[in-house]
Formats: sequence, C-alpha cells, structure tokens
Amino acid sequence: MTWDLHPAGHPLPDAERQEILAAPGFGQVFTDHMVTMRWDEGRGWHDGRLVPYGPLSLDPSSSVFHYGQECFEGMKAYRQENGAIALFRPGTNAARFNRSAERLAMPGIPRETFLQALELLVTQDSAWVPEQEGTSLYLRPMMIATQPELGFTLPSRSYLFCVFASPATAYFGAGATPRPLTVWLSEDYTRAAPGGTGAAKAGGNYAAAFAAQRQAVAEGCDQVVWLDAAEHRWVEEMGGMNLFFVLAPKDGGRPRIVTPPLTDTLLPGVTRDSLLRLAPLLDIDGDEAPMSTDRWQRLCASGELTEAFACGTAAVIAPVGKVKGAGDREWLIGDGRPGPVTLRLREHLLGIQYGRRPDPFSWVHKVC
Ligand code: COI
Repeated sequence: MTWDLHPAGHPLPDAERQEILAAPGFGQVFTDHMVTMRWDEGRGWHDGRLVPYGPLSLDPSSSVFHYGQECFEGMKAYRQENGAIALFRPGTNAARFNRSAERLAMPGIPRETFLQALELLVTQDSAWVPEQEGTSLYLRPMMIATQPELGFTLPSRSYLFCVFASPATAYFGAGATPRPLTVWLSEDYTRAAPGGTGAAKAGGNYAAAFAAQRQAVAEGCDQVVWLDAAEHRWVEEMGGMNLFFVLAPKDGGRPRIVTPPLTDTLLPGVTRDSLLRLAPLLDIDGDEAPMSTDRWQRLCASGELTEAFACGTAAVIAPVGKVKGAGDREWLIGDGRPGPVTLRLREHLLGIQYGRRPDPFSWVHKVC
C-alpha cells in the first residue's frame, strides 16, 4: 500500500492537548489525524491516506447503516519508560480483525498493511500519547460496508477501513489499586449463540448488549456477565471484556486462574490470552474450564474461589468484588476487595506494556 499523507488541518494547540492528556478519561477526545483506505472488488485495498481527523461522508444507503456489516478492534500505544512509543501485540489484533471480517463476509487486510496504518497514525500523533501512569493512546481500527444498495443478496462490494485514536485512562478509571466492580448475571438476554457472531468483534454484538448493560446499571451494577444461550448457567464473558476466576488453595499452594474456554460464543481477548501465557511465569497456573454460576457462588462460599477479575484492552485488569442476579441473588467474592493474584498479574502485565519489565514473549512492538 502506498499512503498519501495529508497531515495539514488544524491540530489542537499544545496547551489544550496537554490539558486533555492530564486526565483523558476514556473515548471522549480524539487525536488530530486518522488513517483511511478503501476496498472494492476490482482494486482490493487502495487509496490509503493519512488525513486530519473528521467526519466521514457516506451515502445513507450504505450497507453498514442497514445491515450492520462492521467490525473493529481495540488496542493501545504505550509511552515507554525511555520515552519511546510501543504497541502491544498488534499482530494478534490484526489476526483477530481478519477473523471478524471473515465471519462477516468482509475482506481481510494484509497484516503488514494493518500494522502500517497503525504505525503511521501513532507516529503522526505521537504527541498525543500520554505519559502519566495508567494512561495510553487507545486505537480503534474499524471497517464498514459502504455499498450504496439495499438488496440483501450478497455482501457489500465496497468497504472503508479507518483507524483513529483517543488518549485514555483505563476504562474503569486510573489509580494503582483499581475499584472492584459489581456485576449482573444476565438471564433475560443472551449475547451469542453457537454459529453466531459471538467470537467476532462486530459492532452488532455490542448494539445487542446495550439493553442488558442498561439493566445491569439499573440493578446497581457496573457490568453485565453473559451466560450461555441454552441454559443460562455457564459463564461466558462480560460486556466487552473476558472474565477470570482465581482459585487459591487454603494450604498456600500455587493459585490457579480459570477462564471459560473459547467457543464461537465468546471473544478471544488479547489480554485474556496474554494472562494465560504470563501466569505460569509468576507461579500461577492458568486454565480454561467452564464455570457455572452455581459453582461460582458455591466456591466463593467455601472460600476456594477468592478473587475474580475482568480483563480487556480497555479494561486492563479490573477486580470483580460482588455478583448480583435475578431474585435478590447476591454474593461477595473474597472480602469484596481487589485480591493479591489480580493485582500481581495486573502489575506484571502493565510492567511489560510500559517497558518497565522484561518482555519474555516479545509482545512489545516499538513504533517510534
Ligand atoms: C476494548 O477493550 O478494546 C474494547 O473494545 C471494549 C469496549 C467495550 C471498550
């Protein structure tokens, strides 16, 4: 791909940018540029551009507005201890993006082209990568179907890819000790069923999740926990992040982190995979095993399950302190506060991402 660079526009003045970077929040403010490219049947991917961040002009009949043909990714650029900027496992996001695209009958993007688009944007907007602890530059690559056609015989024949960026703190706020979440067991709604799009990072999955998330908030919870579609018993994931349980033997033996196995009904999180691989290096066993809500409650009552945490690119690692469900069902996990295994994993993962710790799996991808 050859990229046309049109970086002009009206970048935010330094002082205003610094003010934003001091407390960026999550997904509220966007950097000065974005990278776009287009796909059509004749030319494949073409027209790669770096342009000022701004509105897209689209035909109202574009397929995405009607049939929701869209997929996206979430990833972060981290300011390293030595001032450099690095992405975390961007090749893994590139591969997942292409799996999502395939499920939605959209064209894949060559890994190198995907990485070039990210690098171009991060390099251009490097002044937007915040420096203080717990902050990063969140990157949102996305692809939409742009064919101006309402027929539903075949998928769109034209697509737009765009990646833009937003300075961010962790989804649930900054701070060395994250606030424990209260979660809601969703039995009225399901996120995904076998054969569906649950393993794809598709906008439609998130659209369908809002009703359950709204219910969770109305019940005084932070996030929804999705259960399987058939029995509403088996834990799958949370709203936009994966879920881990910590089982700690009372005799002080090796703790074990357990997360539901990957099926086509849950998203294969990059953070999830990173933790399963990192845990053994910290003398923690990592396992994929089904967990029913009854067993989760029972293991908490018996003191065998001492912690739980959500993980994802945006969420990082967020402890879960309390579980609520229909019929006044409610229980505490451990003492409801962030536990030592959760905090140790979080500290190590962030240490790798910010270049403070050795990178045993070569996950850190230096950009500039
Ligand atoms: C991410 O963690 O990157 C996501 O896309 C989750 C979203 C709910 C912010």
